[in-house]
Amino acid sequence: MSKALDTATAAAAVPGTSISAGYEKRLMVTAGRASLELGSKITSRLGLEPVVAGLKTFADGEVYCRYGESIRGADLFIIQSICASEREGLTPNDALMELLLMVHAAKHASAHRIIAVCPWYGYSRQDKKSAPREPISARLVAELLEVAGIDRLVTMDLHAGQMQGFFSKTVDHMTAMPILTQYVQDRLAGEDLAIIAPDAGRVKLVRNFARKVGAPYALMEKERPAQGVAEIGRVIGDVRGKTAVIVDDIIGTGGTLAAAAQTVLDEGAEQVYAVATHGLFSGDAYRTLVESPLAGIVVTDTVPLRDGAPDMVRQLTSADILTDSIRRIFLDDSVSEIFAGENQLF
Ligand code: R5P
Repeated sequence: MSKALDTATAAAAVPGTSISAGYEKRLMVTAGRASLELGSKITSRLGLEPVVAGLKTFADGEVYCRYGESIRGADLFIIQSICASEREGLTPNDALMELLLMVHAAKHASAHRIIAVCPWYGYSRQDKKSAPREPISARLVAELLEVAGIDRLVTMDLHAGQMQGFFSKTVDHMTAMPILTQYVQDRLAGEDLAIIAPDAGRVKLVRNFARKVGAPYALMEKERPAQGVAEIGRVIGDVRGKTAVIVDDIIGTGGTLAAAAQTVLDEGAEQVYAVATHGLFSGDAYRTLVESPLAGIVVTDTVPLRDGAPDMVRQLTSADILTDSIRRIFLDDSVSEIFAGENQLF
């Protein structure tokens, strides 16, 4: 039986009834199999036992969920990034279907509010039609989540912030940038830094990152001649003699970072690091990055780190920010206060 956090303790009994005023406020947290580790970090920070979701995959590959206890009337937070988990044998599609079933089951089990916590929003890179006859997959995922029954979404560093508009429900768009700026300030203190945007889409974020760490920034020209192929042109800005830090939202195949790192060095940087929120490390990413001139890479745990990560990859946790977000959403407190009002900077 999981321990639920409730607000009843402090609430006086409603006159004439035996029901306490805070009766329905019950916080329960569960995690899908793509986010088990992150889910356990969050529940232990909240002082809760996770709700057992009874997840399994049938022999034919279909997914099943049955909560191990009553969730009636609870605010149920379901933690599940829409990503692969090698350890659990899940593809991103499995993780998505599992999340939809967990939401759907919670709706039919009479949870009061269902909040999907998807730190990594899979399919977010397909957020518009870049060519005729393509889907807008990120929009479809939003529609699926709403049809399944979410009341709210908590996510982190969306590929494009405008994706919040795909939802009619509330979206809390969190950012891992304070974790990454702090890391750069601590670990690269004293270096002559330049913060680099690998493509035009990251310029605003990188400008604010640079401001935060007190360094200049530069922009790279990137083109994708084909899906999964990154071509970096030149650097706009001065990186000569600098320690360059490339800031991105996602590391996929590592192609963007490898090409960007080489270009930055060709333009005269002394050394180059990379930081990103979501480390997918798909396909041969580890090999590509080890063979690149990058001195080090920092990502967060929005996505479970694939086995075999080289020493150059360091993972930081996003659990503190997500835990604080959950606590504040449950208590109807300000979420932007987590970032001291600076979340709009990122
Ligand atoms: C692109 O716009 C993103 O910000 C990332 O740069 C991209 O998704 C990284 O992908 P990859 O590592 O496969 O080059």
